[in-house]
Formats: sequence, C-alpha cells, structure tokens
Amino acid sequence: MDKLVSLAKRRGFIFPGSEIYGGLANSWDYGPLGAELKKNIKDEWWSWFVRRRTDVVGLDAALIMNPKVWESSGHIAGFSDPLVECKKCHNRFRAGELSGEKCPNCGGELTAPKQFNLMFKTFMGPAEEKANVAYLRPETAQAMFVDFKLVLDATRKRLPFGIAQVGKAFRNEITPGNFIFRTREFEQMEIEYFVDPNDWEKYFEYWLKEMKRWLKHLGIKENNLHFAEIPEGERAHYSQRTVDVEYKYPFGQKELYGLAYRGDFDLRQHMKGSGQDLRYTDPEDPKKKFVPHVIEPTWGVDRSVLVAMLEAYHEEQAPTAEGERDMRVVMKFPSWLAPIKVAVLPLSKKEDLCSIAMPIYETLAKHFVCEYDETQSIGKRYRRQDEIGTPYCVTVDFESPDDKKVTVRDRDSMKQDRVPIADLEDYLGEKLA
Ligand code: GAP
Repeated sequence: MDKLVSLAKRRGFIFPGSEIYGGLANSWDYGPLGAELKKNIKDEWWSWFVRRRTDVVGLDAALIMNPKVWESSGHIAGFSDPLVECKKCHNRFRAGELSGEKCPNCGGELTAPKQFNLMFKTFMGPAEEKANVAYLRPETAQAMFVDFKLVLDATRKRLPFGIAQVGKAFRNEITPGNFIFRTREFEQMEIEYFVDPNDWEKYFEYWLKEMKRWLKHLGIKENNLHFAEIPEGERAHYSQRTVDVEYKYPFGQKELYGLAYRGDFDLRQHMKGSGQDLRYTDPEDPKKKFVPHVIEPTWGVDRSVLVAMLEAYHEEQAPTAEGERDMRVVMKFPSWLAPIKVAVLPLSKKEDLCSIAMPIYETLAKHFVCEYDETQSIGKRYRRQDEIGTPYCVTVDFESPDDKKVTVRDRDSMKQDRVPIADLEDYLGEKLA
C-alpha cells in the first residue's frame, strides 16, 4: 500500500486532500491521472450497464433530498454502526472491528457499544434550526425509488427494468482509512433492478454473473476475490439476501461491491411515507397492480480505482534504453482503463524531430488521450510512462525525417515496431480497440 500511495501522489493519481493546510483526515483528491482513471471507470460502467442495454435507464438526482425520504428509508433510525470509546484516551472505534476488549491505542477500558448514526447532517438556508435540517445522501439508491413512478411513466418501461445512477454519497464513518478504501465522501454506481416478485432469485443470480463479468473487465484476478453470503442479522436493514464481493487487499479481505435483494421494502416505505401509489400496473392485465421487488447491484467507484491500481501494479527487472538492466515499476492497466493511451516522444528536442512529433501528437490527440514529452532521456521517459500505465509510446528518432517512420513501444512486452507515420492512427486504433 505504501508504494502505491506514494506512486499515486508522485505521478498525479491521488493527492492527500487540503495538503497545504496540513490535510484533512482521510480526504483525498484525484489528480490529473486519477481523474482520467476514475472517469474511464464511470464512463465504461455507464456504457455497459445503461447505454448498451434496453432494460436500464439512467438518473442524475439531487444529493440533498427531502429529509422525509430518510425517515421512510429507515436511515435516520437504523443507519448506524456500533461505536465504543476508550475511557482513558477517548479514541473512538467501530465495535465490530476490534479484536480484543481493550483500547488498541492505549490499552484503556472501553465503554459499552452505542449506536452511532452515519448520516451527514447539514442545514438548508440561512437559519441553523431543527426545521431546516437536511442530510447528504448516504447512498444513491433512494432517488431511484422516490422517482420510480416518474421514470416509469416517462419511459413506459416494462418489468424487468432498472434505474442506474452514478454519484457521490456521504457517511460520517467512525473509522475511515486505508487510503481511498473507506472515506466519508465517496462515489457509487448503483442499479435498482425492478422485477416481478416471483422472479427475484433468477435476477439475483443474473446480476451476480454481470458483476463477475465486470470484475474481469476491470482486470481483477479471480483468486483475489471472495463472494460472501451475508447471514441474517448482519445484513443491512432493507436486505433479505446479500452477497458481498470481497477483495484481498494488502490490509485484509474486505468488501469491494455488494449485491442485495431489497424486496419491496423501499417502495412500500415510500408509499407509506408519501401517501403516493407506487405500484406497477401489469400491461397485460390493467386490474393487476403490485409493488415490484428490487435486486440491487452496487459498485463503489473509489474502491474500483483502488483495486484496479493494486492489480495493475508490477515491479519487474527489465532492460533499460541504454542496454543495462534495472527494476521498472509498471502499471499494467487494461488499455480501456489507462489514463493516457499514447505518449509521443521525440528522441531529442532538436527542431527537425519536434517538427515531426508535434503534428503526430496533434493528429493522435483527436482520437486518443495522448501526452507529449520532450524532456529528459528517452529511458527516463519510458519509465515514467510505464509508471502511469501508458500502453503505447511513439518515438520520433533520427531516422524518422528520412524514412517517415516512428518506433512504437508496447508497455508490457517492451517490443518495438517500426510503423510508417501515415499508418500510425490505424495501427494504434487497432491495438487500442
Ligand atoms: N445502496 C446500497 C449501499 O449503499 P453499501 O454496501 O453500504 O450498499 C455500496 O455501499 C458500496 O459503496 C460498497 O460496496 C463500497 O464499494 C462503497 N462504499 C460504501 N461505504 C464506503 C466508504 N465509506 N468509502 C468508500 N466506499 C464506500
């Protein structure tokens, strides 16, 4: 983890939040490369699960909802973790995460667990009084229940169909930590998939398979994953069945994603809370009205970034451009995920090479996310591109002005191909497809 955190900062993937003011505990900023990486994940997910499907539609709802939403959903009453406090040093911990009965910090005696609500409170408008209390959403899911009928009427979808949303969620976590694994502000990608109550088991299995397909696409090795059936009593208050997708992080095996069968809990609660009829009318038999059941696959964006980076990180002995050997760090991202796809590198800063390299960059940048770099030795530039996971480097060398060709270096094999400049766009297009 230390190596990854350090690379992430050095190369501009992820910075400590508010650093010039001494930071803010467990807050992180995505730098130029991290922003690209995270966007690639969210865009790919949206394209897979919304745009390329006929049975899922998207939503982009407000972060702050009517507080009654959270009363109905059960979050104000039940979205809490058991907290214990050390009587001596006053540090606070999540009760479930401690191995012994003493304070892990100073060995002091701990209080009995009490429930700590994780909702982030704020105030709407200028007066900070009870009537103006509002909450930052702790999951993106609720808007998809609250807007269920509006989406249904607007799209005329029939069961089974899903509503998907990507966006921020906030939780006042007792013990955030492990880099971007657990933070108080994070992003989720969620689908609420509405089904006929008789079909829930079939669609639960279906979404489990879809989640596995996504994990493979993200580059996650199967033996780093574990699928945990969560027993009754440990499941969230709304769930009748939950499978947690767990990952073997360097700090232990913990949750990455989740799949829950929420039944009709949420729609019924919102019917009760709002007095509105959120039932579905069977198009074959308009007299038949019922509350659909829900399968909810949920993906954390930040945890996706974390596992994608952990899987991609490799250290290996490799020949240098100068013909020696040293250790290279290489991020072997799948090419769809890599923040930069192509780096254009003139071998020297001389005018005759740069005047060829710059138009190549300008042409390629219309199709791929590219970088142009003419500083430092070519060996150092290759190593830098390896560290940020760029799949292809295009080098303009001293022969390029005569033969109108460039060298294309493959990140993983380090093999080099000589490619005519006129064919470069097609060549890279095929490789990066
Ligand atoms: N709507 C269901 C729901 O919110 P959850 O298991 O509480 O379920 C879903 O959260 C996903 O959100 C988790 O699997 C994880 O990837 C991510 N997540 C939850 N809490 C997080 C936190 N504090 N920091 C980063 N990611 C978090």
